[in-house]
Amino acid sequence: MATYTTDQRQLFTGSTIAVLKPATTEQVADIVRLAAHRGIGIVPQGGNTSYCGGATPDTSGRQIIVSLERMDRIREVDPVSMSISVDAGAILKNVQNAAANAGLLLPLSLGAEGSCRIGGNIGTNAGGLSVVRYGMTRDLLLGIEAVLSDGTVVSDMRKLRKNNTGYDIKQCFAGSEGTLGIVTGAVLRLAPLPTRRASAWLKLASGAPLAELLALVRRESADLLTTFEFMTARSIALATEAMTNPPSVRAGSGGTVLAEFASSSRHVGLDELMEAVLAEAIEAGWIEDAFLAQSESQRTAMWQLREAIPEGEKRRNGSVKHDISVPLSSIQRFLDLAASQVRSYDADLELSVYGHAGDGNLHYNVLVPPDVDRTEFTKRIESGLSLQLYDTAAALGGTFSAEHGVGRFKKHLLERYGDVGRIAAMRRIKKAFDPAGIMNPGAIVRPWRKEPAS
Ligand code: MLT
Ligand code: ZN
Repeated sequence: MATYTTDQRQLFTGSTIAVLKPATTEQVADIVRLAAHRGIGIVPQGGNTSYCGGATPDTSGRQIIVSLERMDRIREVDPVSMSISVDAGAILKNVQNAAANAGLLLPLSLGAEGSCRIGGNIGTNAGGLSVVRYGMTRDLLLGIEAVLSDGTVVSDMRKLRKNNTGYDIKQCFAGSEGTLGIVTGAVLRLAPLPTRRASAWLKLASGAPLAELLALVRRESADLLTTFEFMTARSIALATEAMTNPPSVRAGSGGTVLAEFASSSRHVGLDELMEAVLAEAIEAGWIEDAFLAQSESQRTAMWQLREAIPEGEKRRNGSVKHDISVPLSSIQRFLDLAASQVRSYDADLELSVYGHAGDGNLHYNVLVPPDVDRTEFTKRIESGLSLQLYDTAAALGGTFSAEHGVGRFKKHLLERYGDVGRIAAMRRIKKAFDPAGIMNPGAIVRPWRKEPAS
């Protein structure tokens, strides 16, 4: 059972009574009823790719894992309504492919797409590489099926774009990481499948204003921008080391942005549009140079490089991840302040900074030096420098977790940075959905903590 009891980053190993693999929603409901009767905690698990220990049981040995992996059916693709209905255990890549076979796009794309599952994407409200155009998972959610903590099934697999009939229950599950119930099915919104793309590697000038560049690119492309990924030279070098055939692209002195326009229309000249936009950015002095992919293989190579960064970090000895986001207007300020915090904490530390700059989301990662113990180093950074970086993000109106969730590892950060009223509301929701506290106990929020007297 080791693959189920250890988290994706191998930071924590719990124990479990059993791993249960239901094949139907009714079986999930039966399991939940039995667990409720016995007072046993339930940890729902999809692809086990959480970065925050959201799908890992504790060490009590009193929890069961409910793996959704056998519930992996594509229930229906509806090209006219532009929606897809799936089991929660469907692998993201398979859902993307089913949509593409019907000429449509499931606009959710992330590094783990070959193994993560839709239920987990909903549970963590996954973000990824095209949020700047299409939003997070919750923005794609049209309908839901979920089993509540007493075995009641919420069956709302509707495809409606508009449905103002009271509380939006499906949205309670987005970002809930299995603490309110087990998602067993979902209806997701699809978009027209892009048939044309223009992908460019922008070598940024030193101090280039990312937010202004983004605004220019969005405005002048009529918002055809689907990706705006920032990478520093160090992150690119790490990715290059992890690739067998790396492309020979380099970063500018201010780093790089991988920008992509996509369109389903044959009537839009995307390359010309990209060239015109880039000419303006060069004119403004924001980019030193740019390279427009001339073929699908060049485009793929740029993407492989971007997606190889986490693997490059892992091969070196891993990183202490800081999945921060700030309002776009403060992204430059965060970069400046954080750099000086790192320098004064320990000038020898090495960083790998990259991320979804189009969403104000940076992976501000501190590399674990090759010759030190990863766990020890992580503990030391997380109890010192990490808090300084999160303080800075918070002071700028940002957050300590933009897209990776809270799980078990970031609960203390939610308590430190979360608004008191918001946490109180979360506890009340938790109590209402899960009065016995059996749904993913220990994740996100401690339900029984006393609320402050008013
Ligand atoms: C990414 O954007 O590549 C991931 O969210 C960050 C990571 O895998 O560390
Ligand atoms: Zn990311």
